[in-house]
Amino acid sequence: MQKLEVIGGKKISGTVIISGAKNATLPILASTILTNKKVIINNVPVVRDVETMAELLKTIGSSIKFNKKKKKILIHNKKSLKTFAPYNLLKTMRAGVLVLGAMLTKYRIAKVSLPGGCAIGSRPIDLHLNALKKMGAKIKIKNGYIHASAKKGLKGGIIKFPKISVGATENILIAACFAKGETKLRNCAIEPEVEDLIIFLKKIGCRIEKIGKRSINVFGIKKLKPAKHKIIFDRIETCTYIIAAALTKGNLKIKNIIPKIISTEIKLLNKMGVKVVIKKDHIIVSRPKKLKSINIVTRPYPGFPTDLQAQIMILMTKAEGVSTIQENIFENRFMHVSELRRMGAKIEIKGNKAKVFGKSKLNGAELMATDLRASVCLVLAGLIPSSKTVINRIYHLDRGYEKIEKKLSQCGAKVRRLQ
Ligand code: UD1
Repeated sequence: MQKLEVIGGKKISGTVIISGAKNATLPILASTILTNKKVIINNVPVVRDVETMAELLKTIGSSIKFNKKKKKILIHNKKSLKTFAPYNLLKTMRAGVLVLGAMLTKYRIAKVSLPGGCAIGSRPIDLHLNALKKMGAKIKIKNGYIHASAKKGLKGGIIKFPKISVGATENILIAACFAKGETKLRNCAIEPEVEDLIIFLKKIGCRIEKIGKRSINVFGIKKLKPAKHKIIFDRIETCTYIIAAALTKGNLKIKNIIPKIISTEIKLLNKMGVKVVIKKDHIIVSRPKKLKSINIVTRPYPGFPTDLQAQIMILMTKAEGVSTIQENIFENRFMHVSELRRMGAKIEIKGNKAKVFGKSKLNGAELMATDLRASVCLVLAGLIPSSKTVINRIYHLDRGYEKIEKKLSQCGAKVRRLQ
């Protein structure tokens, strides 16, 4: 099993180029099941989850070609696809369930494994299934699989999500594109990755209208057209590198981004004392001598993202005073804390709240990664002490961070992969 060795104490400085967002690529790839027209997708991050989704599409008969060097995917499906998504491809990647809406709306039948993914909470898919049922689908769960059918096709209507969910919004948005009539989606997730999916769907010919803040209307259509799309930048990767620079007192230029999309995060980091100069498509990060404590609550976009909670916690261990985090999205997302404590961090957990005591001295240690974002937080922690940190189970990291050791090394870090 591969490990990552980090010898800290080095400044993260220079320039880093941000990849396309994994969380935008996955639903966009799933939605290509809808179309028989040629689709070209650029700025695709070469990470394990994207490879798994590409493999899943190949398994069902898609003509997908992934040019990893050019970060480009070309799909031109000329024949019908299979409507079966097997467990072996969904067990490591929860987003695999996003093929359900596309298969069901296009082929009126689907058998999709119940998904796996990060162990950060129970992560049900009831919101996806209830919405599909409301659109006329018959759904049964048997032997770990979702068996869905809609003999006469899905139909529009009003779907008000009882809770904001990124995945459910995406799945139903895709399903609504071929549903009969108009589907009015309410209380939707408005993450930039959902926006990117909408942009892509509109490019391939779907009729989608956003009204108000969390309402989306989709008009069912039959014919699609060829399209070319560039995946939006990865906002979580961007903020991870901001934190890496701030932690190590480096000066870092972060390129290929749209700064206004991360204004909530930048404002909070500014409050902690991190300096960010904002330009049109890049930012420059530096930090003053003092880092201040802060209180953070994770919320759906435009709130502070749960996917950045573990990373900001490391910065809090270096701030003056006590900081707090309230995790509102996933119930089990403090699994990195026990590993950070092994490095010397002082963190108290009560339910969904963490109290992080600043100015702790972190020492290198052998650590175990537990999920995607927790893994990267351990890498960040490893950048601080000048002693050695070894992170086990980094397959989690490879699911979502493109070439992390190369990008960090180019900015001055001492990081290497051990076989
Ligand atoms: C997506 C992101 C993930 C991010 C999360 C929250 C992708 C591939 N993954 O995950 O990185 O951490 O959004 O921003 O884009 N829920 C239900 N029932 C459902 C669906 C969700 O109760 O049917 C709950 C979840 O348990 C969680 C909350 O809703 O408490 C939000 O989850 P959701 O937004 O659906 O997360 P994902 O789409 O899985």
